[in-house]
Amino acid sequence: MYTSKEILDIVSRYIDNLPYDRKPQSLYEPIKYVLSAGGKRIRPSFVLMAYNLFKDDVETALPAAAALETYHNYTLLHDDLMDNADVRRGRPTVHKKWNANTAILSGDTMLSLAYLHLANSKTENLKDALDLFTVTALEVSEGQQYDMEFETRTDVKEEEYIEMIRLKTSVLLACALKMGALLAGASAEDAELIYKFGEKVGLAFQLQDDYLDVYGDPVVFGKTIGGDITSNKKTYMLINAWNRSEGETRSELNHWLGVSDFDREEKIKAVTNIYNKLGIDKLAEAKIKECFDESRKYLDGISVADERKQVLRGYTENMMNRKK
Ligand code: IPE
Ligand code: IPE
Ligand code: MG
Ligand code: MG
Ligand code: MG
Repeated sequence: MYTSKEILDIVSRYIDNLPYDRKPQSLYEPIKYVLSAGGKRIRPSFVLMAYNLFKDDVETALPAAAALETYHNYTLLHDDLMDNADVRRGRPTVHKKWNANTAILSGDTMLSLAYLHLANSKTENLKDALDLFTVTALEVSEGQQYDMEFETRTDVKEEEYIEMIRLKTSVLLACALKMGALLAGASAEDAELIYKFGEKVGLAFQLQDDYLDVYGDPVVFGKTIGGDITSNKKTYMLINAWNRSEGETRSELNHWLGVSDFDREEKIKAVTNIYNKLGIDKLAEAKIKECFDESRKYLDGISVADERKQVLRGYTENMMNRKK
């Protein structure tokens, strides 16, 4: 069994040494740029950790791990363009450093590279692995489409938000875990349990990302704070603030949701103040904990010795204390 630190090292060594020897360089430069900015590398770590629950030769899962990290970074290139985000991992985003066309085309290329990596997996279950990945990629796009559409809707329900984040974020984390399990030849029951585990952890993870978008430290978080507020993202926090507000507070919130010409900092400050007044920070913290707690039973149910689960248990616990 490997520790999470050892797994991160194995994954990083592999991803950092992937060759990009095709041309033109201008297409691959942004890909190297985004992948070399690091990030937490949760998805490739999940692939190896899940594999390691069942088997020890984790290197077998490296191409799949690289596939999921490449895919994840592709979604970030497009997401930053769609969200108009200028900073990622403390650096200018690809469409800021280059331009929108670069983010689109280098992003598309990363999707192709992801398939190339995955198809290189040495496994008897390649068809299952490819099917899982393809359905996941479809779902992520579906989630991203809902995320965008919700920006201009005012009647988004909490359940709709949860389903949207399940699609845009959870399924990829769940896919990473299930992929590791599949490659290791786990039973269908265990593969399903680890998927469910990832889904619940993923909900907590995105809820927390939305929380950090308001309450995080931009230097540590590596992204500009307040982007969700300025673009009227229908987060758990905004939906609940709207539901809980009345009178003047409701009018003020409605005003900020309706204005098209505003001072960025002023809007962020005003909406954050409303959240604070309504106790939305505490509410979000409780919801994060609820989703995380719910995930535990699925990990507990997997049919391997309990001590083998300690790495994933500890790693996901640490994820919940993240500041970045
Ligand atoms: C960012 O994912 C996108 C979300 C799903 C919130 P991460 O927070 O895993 O980003 P990196 O890869 O560590 O930068
Ligand atoms: C991102 O959600 C989900 C995907 C990239 C698919 P966000 O838009 O909240 O992610 P960040 O905050 O930009 O990383
Ligand atoms: Mg974004
Ligand atoms: Mg987004
Ligand atoms: Mg975010």
